[in-house]
Amino acid sequence: KMNKFISELMAKMTLDEKIGQLNLPSAGDFTTGQTSSSDIGRKIREGKVGGLFNIRSVERIRNVQKVAVEESRLKIPLIFGMDVIHGYKSVFPIPLGLSCSWDMDLIEQSARIAAIEASADGICWTFSPMVDLSRDPRWGRVAEGSGEDPFLGGEVAKAMVRGYQGTDLTANNTIMATVKHFALYGAGEAGRDYNTVDMSRQRMYNEYFLPYKAGVDAGAGSVMAAFNEVDGIPATGNKWLMQNVLRDQWGFNGFIVTDYTGIYEMTAHGVGDLQTVSAMALKAGMDMDMVSEGFLLTLQKSLSEGKISEGQINTACRRILEAKYKLGLFDDPYRYCDSKRAETEIYTDANRMAARKTASESFVLLKNEGNILPLRKDAKIALIGPLADNRLNMCGTWTVAGDFEKAISVLDGIGMVTGKPELVTLARGINVVADSVLESRIGMFGKPTGWDSRPAEIMIAEAVKAAEKSEVVVAILGEASESSGECSSITNIELPANQRELLKALLKTGKPVVMVLFTGRPLAITWEQENVPAILNVWFGGSEAGAAVADVLFGDVVPSGKLTASFPRNTGQIPVFYNHKNTGRPLPEGQWFTKFLTNYLDVPNEPLYPFGYGLSYTSFSYSDLTLSKRTMKPGESIDVSVKVTNTGNYDGKEVVQLYIRDMVGTTTRPVKELKGFQKVFLKKGETKEVKFTIDIEDLKFYNYDLDFVAEPGDFKVFTGGNSRDVLEAEFVLTES
Ligand code: IFM
Repeated sequence: KMNKFISELMAKMTLDEKIGQLNLPSAGDFTTGQTSSSDIGRKIREGKVGGLFNIRSVERIRNVQKVAVEESRLKIPLIFGMDVIHGYKSVFPIPLGLSCSWDMDLIEQSARIAAIEASADGICWTFSPMVDLSRDPRWGRVAEGSGEDPFLGGEVAKAMVRGYQGTDLTANNTIMATVKHFALYGAGEAGRDYNTVDMSRQRMYNEYFLPYKAGVDAGAGSVMAAFNEVDGIPATGNKWLMQNVLRDQWGFNGFIVTDYTGIYEMTAHGVGDLQTVSAMALKAGMDMDMVSEGFLLTLQKSLSEGKISEGQINTACRRILEAKYKLGLFDDPYRYCDSKRAETEIYTDANRMAARKTASESFVLLKNEGNILPLRKDAKIALIGPLADNRLNMCGTWTVAGDFEKAISVLDGIGMVTGKPELVTLARGINVVADSVLESRIGMFGKPTGWDSRPAEIMIAEAVKAAEKSEVVVAILGEASESSGECSSITNIELPANQRELLKALLKTGKPVVMVLFTGRPLAITWEQENVPAILNVWFGGSEAGAAVADVLFGDVVPSGKLTASFPRNTGQIPVFYNHKNTGRPLPEGQWFTKFLTNYLDVPNEPLYPFGYGLSYTSFSYSDLTLSKRTMKPGESIDVSVKVTNTGNYDGKEVVQLYIRDMVGTTTRPVKELKGFQKVFLKKGETKEVKFTIDIEDLKFYNYDLDFVAEPGDFKVFTGGNSRDVLEAEFVLTES
């Protein structure tokens, strides 16, 4: 039915109108969602626009859609996109935080709520999930992904696609997902945004490609191309990537959109002028041109010169029309413009409660010496630091619809949860960043960040005075929210020196100090780990962040988040990740320096906190790792079970992790690979047997010829509460 409808429509379209469908201009400013260009109206009337992004609200979108369906010749509706990446008006934690919940139902629900709210505000297409694997916390966009692991990244990708798209994309409360940025955007050299990527195909297929493929397998309607090059060819014009891998090997049948000015940027990459790169992009399989207008301006000419074919334009146009059809826009172009829904379904109490719960599940307790946490609700607290009384920094990057002023700060949250705000002495402490250049840059989206410009000594003195009067100091430190996200790469991932000075002064008072760390990336907090008794990492938790922080600080929620990205000991240790190769000169685990083995003179090889790490207010012990058999034939599977006991004083959740190691391969294999996980709830004193199944698919990898195979031989199985502290067993995969 869809094919027939589209064929009939395309039969009526001029070449110009077909090219128009491939054009995706930005409608305005993503923070306000307001349209900015009157020129766009003219182009819509002329059939030169396929969709718009960065516009929101039912009224505005309805008005623009009206132009398309009433004033353009063929009345083809527009598709409306937006970067709805961690909630909409009810803002959820940044994706890196979300992934640390290891709770796929919760993640799916966050995307579901984002879809409901965004679609109630006129939007039908999101540029999410971002599934770029990254092992470089210098890169600001680690905040937007799910960390360093391909398997976990794939599970999150699937959960988010399910959440956005639901089971019926034509429903008015589901939106189309975009798997981005295809491919390898998280592997830019030195963590500098948009930088060159150079990677073996083995690593692409076995590691970086997995989350994209998972998102595609889950049925994502669109894919966005990456800015970077892949194998010497910009992704936007890379036919191998888009056609051979994405379409032929993975069977993707949705549409591919470039990133912002992706086509135009190929001229700077140095592969041709605008006409050449536009033709290259079309031939590679790009369907929609975001902002460059390279398609609009040059495809006619390229066609007349025989550089592209009409068939290639038709294919791209068909895919855009198919997306609109799948969203139900031909049935009702105003499907997502229901102002009643906008009034009742956005920023509801239930959605905000879900955001608060999700935020508390995303926090990772890094240290809790002497069980300082949880705090008593009647404790006298000195609440100190630049982010303590700061609503503007709670939400994190790409908060496209959240109301910063209304976000719950930590001060607000403590008041809400304890009911005793009078017991809190507030001292603002010290600025988030020391460097004034950085300060001016991070204001780039015009969000006020609430800097305090008083000299550091005055602020420290005020903080110390507050600390001295208190029972416990809670220092709310870390990064400003704009310090991570797009084009926010940094070369030093330590806390700013002035924040460390503040901590030193607070520790000197002899009061117990809890550091609550806001960050969009793993930070190198080696000094803090050595000196501060309790550290709770809270990412940017969203519109309800402060309430969630208070829930955890006072023990209403027992922390259960686990890191999905290793925390390096210092910036020079980057990249450090758990699933590395062994090398020919491995350093035995737990050792430091041995001459002529692979290691550093100044720090151990292990990260400060490994992948999968995170504490609780209770404790868990692991025992009785058993395998159902020690020999596995290709058609068989092995059942793995392990006993997990809650040995502490609180009920709590534990993320039980399963890793394997392929001991010998025709190519080298990682020392550990995550293959399963379960988040289980255990009452204090309770023991549960947690079961996993390993089948042949879990043992497969892409060999040198890129065949996906399981090779017979020895395997190890590990289970534990993080990637470092594990129980171990072995089995053999036989030939037949
Ligand atoms: O979706 C984003 C992308 O991740 C980065 N460049 C801009 C796009 C649209 O806002």
